[in-house]
Amino acid sequence: MIGHSEEFEKMARLEGQLWWYRSLHKRVETTLRKQFGDRKTIKILDAGCGTGGMLEYLRKKGYTDLRGIDGSPDAIAVCRQRNLPVTSLNLNELAHFEPHNQYDAIICNDVFCYFTDTDLFPLVRALRQRLKPGGILVSNNNAFNAFEGQHDIAVGVIRRFVLSDFAKMMSGMGMRIIDSTYWSFALSIPILLMRQWQRLQLAIGWRKAEEAQSDVYLPTPWLNDTLYRITEIEQKLFRRTPFGSSLFIVVITDPVGR
Ligand SMILES: C[S@@+](CC[C@H](N)C(=O)[O-])C[C@H]1O[C@@H](n2cnc3c(N)ncnc32)[C@H](O)[C@@H]1O
Repeated sequence: MIGHSEEFEKMARLEGQLWWYRSLHKRVETTLRKQFGDRKTIKILDAGCGTGGMLEYLRKKGYTDLRGIDGSPDAIAVCRQRNLPVTSLNLNELAHFEPHNQYDAIICNDVFCYFTDTDLFPLVRALRQRLKPGGILVSNNNAFNAFEGQHDIAVGVIRRFVLSDFAKMMSGMGMRIIDSTYWSFALSIPILLMRQWQRLQLAIGWRKAEEAQSDVYLPTPWLNDTLYRITEIEQKLFRRTPFGSSLFIVVITDPVGR
């Protein structure tokens, strides 16, 4: 993703409007409220904050102690234009960065998919070290290989996850998954069909990998709104759904840190 300037430009333009981002931002904020009630002064870090849509959303919701980290100069430039408190840093260096700073909540959305196990384990350990006792890690991730499509190629994703990938990793690091869901269940079949169709087109040469486009584009307003409503209703009605192109997890530190 780092270096894909056009993707950061699209992200910056659309993350406040596109149904998928709106739904994710709301899901994160609902999680923070569930865990911390109305405390808006909790310390929050967005690790791999991109162009800052999540931070901006939380700022609008009244959260005051926000910090972002990203390794992309394009993303950091947008965050600074938005006057968001961000630091440019390769997350592989996180273990050595401000070791004294600890957070109540760390958000890490759609970042782990850029890390092989060799780098992911140290990253998760470094995030763990930055959490206060009882602090939470909130992380959205792309899920199930069956959903791989041209979006993955366009944004350079190298892997997709299932829940068991995280369950093992977290328990080995003194953390516990307290909530998880695949989403959007209601939209999973159309998304799956669309992605499989894209893969077929790539396989038979109707589409070229170099021309792959990400899913970050705005549909017509009525469709964008309808898709948002569907995910919103799903979120209200079901705490957990078993299938979808994303996996949302909430992880808490064990009382005695390791
Ligand atoms: C798909 S974007 C997600 C951005 C944001 N979390 C969101 O939900 O919109 C992935 C982000 O991870 C950042 N990233 C990937 N690898 C990184 C690394 N090694 N160090 C720092 N940032 C990294 C990219 O620059 C990009 O902003």
